[in-house]
This record gives sequence, C-alpha cells and structure tokens, in this order.
Amino acid sequence: MASISFKNIQKSFASTAVLCDISLEIADGEFLTLLGPSGCGKSTLLRILAGLEVQSSGSLSIGERVVDGVRPKRRDIAMVFQSYALYPHMTVAQNMALPLRMRRLSIWQRLPMIGRLLPGMRTTLDAIDEDVRRTAEALSIGHLLDRKPGQLSGGQRQRVAVGRAMVRQPAVFLMDEPLSNLDAKLRVQMRAEIKELHRRLGVTFVYVTHDQSEAMTMSDRVAVMHDGNLLQVAPPQEIYTDPQDRRIAEFIGSPKISILDAVVEEPGIAMTAGTVFSIPHEVLPGSHIALGIRPEAFFLADSHCPNVLTGSVRLVEHMGSDLFVHLDIPGQDSPIVARLLAERAPHINEGQTLHLGVRPDRLLLFAADGKRIRACPKEGNTLMAASVISLKEHAQ
Ligand SMILES: Nc1ncnc2c1ncn2[C@@H]1O[C@H](COP(=O)(O)OP(=O)(O)OP(=O)(O)O)[C@@H](O)[C@H]1O
Ligand SMILES: [Mg+2]
Repeated sequence: MASISFKNIQKSFASTAVLCDISLEIADGEFLTLLGPSGCGKSTLLRILAGLEVQSSGSLSIGERVVDGVRPKRRDIAMVFQSYALYPHMTVAQNMALPLRMRRLSIWQRLPMIGRLLPGMRTTLDAIDEDVRRTAEALSIGHLLDRKPGQLSGGQRQRVAVGRAMVRQPAVFLMDEPLSNLDAKLRVQMRAEIKELHRRLGVTFVYVTHDQSEAMTMSDRVAVMHDGNLLQVAPPQEIYTDPQDRRIAEFIGSPKISILDAVVEEPGIAMTAGTVFSIPHEVLPGSHIALGIRPEAFFLADSHCPNVLTGSVRLVEHMGSDLFVHLDIPGQDSPIVARLLAERAPHINEGQTLHLGVRPDRLLLFAADGKRIRACPKEGNTLMAASVISLKEHAQ
C-alpha cells in the first residue's frame, strides 16, 4: 500500500501547456478519481504517475519514495487501460501470467527452449499458474483461462485486464476509463465490482473518468480537473452541494444546474429574469453575478411568494417517482430544469405557465470570474473578495 504526492507538476508538449502546477496528496488506500472533460489532462497526469510520461517540472512521490526518473516497472503500480491492451494471440491465462513472468523469470528463463531446462523453473512456473488461477477465481473468470481475448465479451475482457493488473499485487492501481467500452448496464455492474475490489484489496486506486456518475458512486474523493488545472478535491457529496467554481457546478449533476445571470440591486437583493430575488450574501450593488440552482432546490410556488421564477413549461419528463420540468424563463437562452416529486406535481402540462420557488439555503452564487461567492464570517457586512473584483471589472 502507498500514498501518493504530486508536487507542483507541470507538463507541456512542445509549447502547449497541458498540466499547470498540479499539487495533490492521495492517502494510502484511498479511491481517488480524476474527473473532467475530454482533453483536460487526466490521462497525462495518470501516465506521469505510471512513469509512462515525464513531467516538465515538479516532483512525484509514491509512499516515502520520490519516483522522478524511476522506470514504470520499478514503481510498484499496475495500470488498466481503456483499450485493455490484451495480447490477442495469447490465452487469458497467458495474458494474466505475463506481468509475473516478466518479474519472476530471468531473461534466460524466458527463452522457450533453454528456459525449460534451467533449475527451479518448474517451481516458479507452478507458483505463477497458482497466482493466476487464484486471481481469476476472485474475478469469476476462472472458467475462461484457456480462451483468447477475441472469444470474450466486453465485460469479460475488462475483468481479464483488471486481473492482469491485480495478479502481481501492486501497491497502487491506476485505471484510465476502464469502463468506457462497455454498454450502460454492464458499466453499472462493473463499477460496483471495481468498488468491491478496492474494498477487498485495500490498496490505493487512482481512477480516471469523464463520467460523473462513475466518479460520484465509486470515489472516496473526486479531483475535478479543467484545462490542466485542479479546480477542487473533495468527497463526491461536497463537490455536488458545495462547488468552489461555476465550471464544477455545471459539470456535475444530472439534470444540469440552472444558471441565471443576475445584477445586484442593493445588498441582499438581486434582479434576475425580471424577478427580484433575495440573496443570502451581501454582495456589492452593481455586481454582475450568477445564481446557480440545482433541480431539487425548486418547488412549486404561488406567484406572489418571494424568489419565484415564472415561465412557460417547455418539456415534462416523467421519471417514475420524479418529474423533470423544463421551464422557459423570459430573457434566458436555455430553460431552467426542476426536479419535482411526481405525487406533489401530478398535473403539469407542456405550454402551461408555472411558478417555481427556490430554496434560499440551496442558492449558489458565483462571481463574474466563476468563483463561488461565500459569506465572509468575520464582518457583519459580509463581502466576498470575488464580488469586489467583479465590481471593479464592472466599473472599468
Ligand atoms: N503526446 C502528446 N503530444 C502532444 N499533445 C498531447 C500528447 N498527449 C496528450 N496531448 C494533449 O494534452 C491534452 C490532454 O490530454 P489527455 O489525454 O491528458 O486528456 P484527457 O483528459 O485524458 O482526455 P480524454 O477524456 O479525452 O481521454 C490534450 O489537449 C491532448 O491533445
Ligand atoms: Mg484520457
């Protein structure tokens, strides 16, 4: 088992900066997921950890050991790739045995004719077979050991790839989008299996995905990346309810968070979509801000209540116990989306006018630069630095 420490990691390909000053501590035995949109640098960071890529600057430790310049096979890590990278001409057993043969056999012992005759060879090969068989049983692929990858389903291939990584008991498991080739149903099943595998092995997992539901369901903590930067590292629930940045709020959550542009009229009051909205923080008047509202923060309301948005229903999606209601609000390009309990909102039709209230404690405020606006605990007159910046920008 091992902790991992990234210190000020930067990476550029030619003149293009791909990772900008990434610092991240991963605890021993933790399941940490790197989450972010395509091209944000997740695989590059993972490949640097694996030793398959070298950082332009910064330092990396696994356990107590600084591993800068240490070759991949000496890092005590195993990686499962998106493509699985299985050898098609080898059986499942041979694929899984490969890392053990590379590690336990000398160059001479690996030679097909001479190797067989060398002393101690039989004992080593029997031990390798036993380790492969035990790992295969643990992953329920014991009956597939004699097949070739071409004769397996996607899920079985994925298990073989995990088995090949697992067989030599690494201190750290790296997985780069291992489920992206599977259909939706199998993905859900395999993500539970990987989580169970983590629980059973108790080693450190670093998992890469751009699928937020994978990140939210499997991880102890999620590291959200964007354009080569680490925006927030926190447990999944905190990432959802307490995002530090508008980009995180918009990336996490399905249906998406509704974002409304607003102007602060006076302390505690903002104007958005023709509606006067009371806001929980005293942001400087004149500031341009954004109000973020999660689907479940809406409720059906009367028109005369405070903080109520009125619009025309564009679409109603029936999800069984819930309804997703898309509401067109005057002056907003895209509709807001509310999640309502079906039993409380049985008769909503497309085209009708609807009033939706917003729970004030669930309102997320963002400054013009996307940073979250939070109440400043020290002063009675709560002013956030971000809102001061946004006012300065407004004045210029
Ligand atoms: N060997 C390389 N040479 C030049 N540019 C590269 C190289 N590898 C990656 N990049 C660039 O670095 C950026 C980050 O790539 P990376 O593969 O880390 O993204 P990612 O977050 O894993 O994306 P995805 O979700 O699509 O796999 C991309 O813009 C990519 O084009
Ligand atoms: Mg990638």
